Amino acid sequence: MISERFSDEDFLYLKEKIFQLAGIHLTEKKRELVKSRVQSFLRKSSVKSVEELKQKLELSDPTIIQQFVNLLTTNKTDFFREPKHFDFLVEQLIPFWEQSQNRQIKIWCAASSTGEEPYTIAMVLQKNLPKNSTFKILATDIDTQVLSKAQNGVYPNSKLHEIPDEYHPYLTLGTKRAEGWFKTKNEIHSKITFKQHNLIEKTYPGKEIFDVVFCRNVLIYFERKTINTLMEKLHLSLKPDGHLFIGHSESISGTQHIFEALQPSVFKKVVV
Ligand SMILES: C[S@@+](CC[C@H](N)C(=O)[O-])C[C@H]1O[C@@H](n2cnc3c(N)ncnc32)[C@H](O)[C@@H]1O
Repeated sequence: MISERFSDEDFLYLKEKIFQLAGIHLTEKKRELVKSRVQSFLRKSSVKSVEELKQKLELSDPTIIQQFVNLLTTNKTDFFREPKHFDFLVEQLIPFWEQSQNRQIKIWCAASSTGEEPYTIAMVLQKNLPKNSTFKILATDIDTQVLSKAQNGVYPNSKLHEIPDEYHPYLTLGTKRAEGWFKTKNEIHSKITFKQHNLIEKTYPGKEIFDVVFCRNVLIYFERKTINTLMEKLHLSLKPDGHLFIGHSESISGTQHIFEALQPSVFKKVVV
């Protein structure tokens, strides 16, 4: 039997916990959302009450902790979301790399959700980079459930309209049991490595430094202090002439000394 109780104290506890674990700042407005997600989790899980959930979180049960993080992330994404960034890649960055003879492009997609963003970047680079250049993409997220969907890379045909026709040659449409679904061809899929990574941790996902970091539509969940610390980490993860994309509705004001704004939501690393 599931307890439907969800008190102020429960909300405050869970709000504090997700902030500690993922840096996600939940305002009072999110209370109903948290309540409904927690209750739906309790219906499906062996954990049967908010009290039991809190006890397991307190004991740092790793499975519960991951399930809890997965539960409270928001994963909305699309192929070719905020398309001006992909125009910038093609019109500004590819010619810049060609001129500087950079032929091995490394991209970090730092909150990749279910994968539409890294697959978009891969298709754009595959189509537009000169043939003597290669690229690889590291796609990370804190949420293991979306990462596994991203790695699988199979999407319903209802999402096909998000991808411009000129990129459809990079897709394979499912037949028979896979009818109604599509995925990207191996030449695209093979360019992406998926890995779990928590942006509020001090460590980096690997040893690479990157030409571009996409960190889009995740800063909206963080407080200013968390964003400033994250920007220092992203700055270090970029090559001296590296670029950063954030979401159009996001801001990194306060870090102008380390990033120069080229356009709204497009930044270049300042070497300090
Ligand atoms: C709204 S989605 C944005 C997806 C994609 N970047 C886009 O713009 O379409 C936000 C993603 O950030 C991830 N996220 C939230 N907190 C995170 C953290 N601390 N570390 C890494 N990823 C995080 C969530 O799991 C979610 O998949």
